[in-house]
Amino acid sequence: MSEASGQASFRSRRLGVLVSGRGSNLQALIDAIGDGRLDATIAVVIANVEGAGGLDLARAAGIEAVCISHRGWPSRDDFDRAVARELQARDVELVCLAGYMRIAGAPLLEAFPNAILNIHPALLPSFPGLHAQRQAIAHGVKVSGVTVHLVDGELDAGPIVVQRAVPVIDDDTAETLAARILLEEHRAYPEAVRLVLDGNWRIDGRRLIRTAGR
Ligand code: GRF
Repeated sequence: MSEASGQASFRSRRLGVLVSGRGSNLQALIDAIGDGRLDATIAVVIANVEGAGGLDLARAAGIEAVCISHRGWPSRDDFDRAVARELQARDVELVCLAGYMRIAGAPLLEAFPNAILNIHPALLPSFPGLHAQRQAIAHGVKVSGVTVHLVDGELDAGPIVVQRAVPVIDDDTAETLAARILLEEHRAYPEAVRLVLDGNWRIDGRRLIRTAGR
């Protein structure tokens, strides 16, 4: 990724949220929209797992909820193309991965260039991948946190939009640390979505640079 601008890319502020599980970050976005902290509309929630809690949360909030299982497609790209089609059919401008346990492949990245966000429960580039909180405890770091970043082709990479630190305390387990990080995730994700939608940023190499509206 070299130079790109967020200026004026997001007009309708329509989000698509992709989930695989319980969906507490989806709920944080729903709540932020509901109480006016985030000016956006969630056009659709898509889960790749049947019975994902996020689908129920979406329906409870009156949001269209769609399940597209990743199983049974001839290729990963075919699955990603199907997801991209559903998002585009609803005029989604920004895609938010919220506990989505799939890597966004080329069809999604091409359909939404610089317009896919992910949230990760660690201070990237530390502890990418699964069980980030367990990795942080095992490594013995004193500070971990949350990262919201634009998605590129790599796992848990891409320009960082928002990071928040969370101290690790001596008697933390992966579970207690995860719970404290999650509280911070729920603040960081709506903030990052707002920042990206507002469009006052540009990409310079790996860096997302704010251009106005601080
Ligand atoms: C969160 O910790 C998120 O950072 C990670 O997966 C978890 C999803 O939780 N990518 P939820 O489904 O949003 O509750």
